[in-house]
Amino acid sequence: MRSTVVRQLLEVHGADPRPESPGRRLLVIEPDDVGEILHSTAFQRTDFVRQLAGSGLLATDGPLWRERRRIMQPSFPVREPERHLESIDWAMPGFIDRLGCAVDEDRRLCLLDEMMRVISRIVYRAVFGVELRSDEDRVSKFQPMMDAVGAVHWSLVAPGGTVSAAALSQLQRTRSLADEEIAWIIQRRRGADVGVDDALGRLLSAQAEGRIDDEGIHDEVRSLVLAATETSANSLVWCLLLLEDHPEVIERIAPELAAGRGEAELDAVIWETLRLYPPVWANERQAVETAVQGDRTWEPGDRAVISAYRLHRDPRLWNDPDLFRPERFAASSEGRWKPPHRFAYMPFGAGPHLCIGRNLALLEMRRILREIISGFRVEFESPGEIEPILGIVMRPSAPVSVRLRRR
Ligand code: HEM
Repeated sequence: MRSTVVRQLLEVHGADPRPESPGRRLLVIEPDDVGEILHSTAFQRTDFVRQLAGSGLLATDGPLWRERRRIMQPSFPVREPERHLESIDWAMPGFIDRLGCAVDEDRRLCLLDEMMRVISRIVYRAVFGVELRSDEDRVSKFQPMMDAVGAVHWSLVAPGGTVSAAALSQLQRTRSLADEEIAWIIQRRRGADVGVDDALGRLLSAQAEGRIDDEGIHDEVRSLVLAATETSANSLVWCLLLLEDHPEVIERIAPELAAGRGEAELDAVIWETLRLYPPVWANERQAVETAVQGDRTWEPGDRAVISAYRLHRDPRLWNDPDLFRPERFAASSEGRWKPPHRFAYMPFGAGPHLCIGRNLALLEMRRILREIISGFRVEFESPGEIEPILGIVMRPSAPVSVRLRRR
């Protein structure tokens, strides 16, 4: 599975279209240049991301971003996985029951729907302190907005693409449904007595100290939902699709996982999935001042397109870049796995805006995959070839239907 759409997009970009026009969008392919841009104050998040996420972490830079990150960072502790594991443990029985019922009833499942449901239950509890029932589907209220955002994002990243008025008004319309859900989350959290350890709890106590207002909290919740749900859910679908093509890997790791072992191998499968199908396939930064990089001069307004997909499949950096080879992530006799270049592998971004939720994402993916692989055989029923399509995250081009059997 390699996306022709992505390849064509990146090839056109590679040719530096419209090099003389103002507000250019240029693909950056040298990992050193990528690192420089992500660490430079001459580049910031784009106007579009700000329109979308307002003052949320996903969209800001400078002092406002620093203050918000300071408020929320302690709720994503890097060295204390227990806090998030508790929410993951809480969500698992309902998830396994749902899968078990589908087996008993010989019912077909839409894989992405199931992954969105379990991921959103974990995220609502771990990040917002709100518990959902296992049959409660609230995150779908965000789906129309995510689809509308995806359409606009695509037009922005495509060379020469322009955003139509219709796409923008669709975005406005779908945002109101999402806004209702955000207001519901905040209201539920205000009424819950669950401490302040989650991100929303910390935002609400920062509000009591006058460090953030209602609108700021609303924007942060929108940012967190956008960043935390489709990304992990689609990664899980890609992972299971890749494993479907590599039954030898499944047969090797399933008994290990059932015996409570096999963590390193499972991690390698996850890392390799994120290499081949990085959910955040392209990201942008906008020059806010003139910046010279080699023989390229960035003028204010120019946009740098940074594509993890492109970097992860660069044959100059990776051997057989299009092949699924989890073993490339194995530790060697010289120690832990290292990327071929510091900025050659960045599914969670790099620099100051490195993903705040990466540990939560990895913990939930590990646990969900362990439950599925060790407990069930997955039979895919999808018609035809599936290739990645580009929304706000990279997702399969057709619904992926499966039937499960118990192992
Ligand atoms: C597989 C899952 C995930 C992937 C691939 C992913 C990827 C990314 C990437 C590439 C960035 C950098 C964006 C940039 O440079 O502008 C980012 C930032 C961010 N992510 Fe994630 N993410 C994932 C899961 C999560 C989760 C679970 C959360 C929260 C619970 C989260 C919250 C955020 C936030 C708030 C930012 C902005 C950070 C900042 O600018 O300070 N992400 N993510």
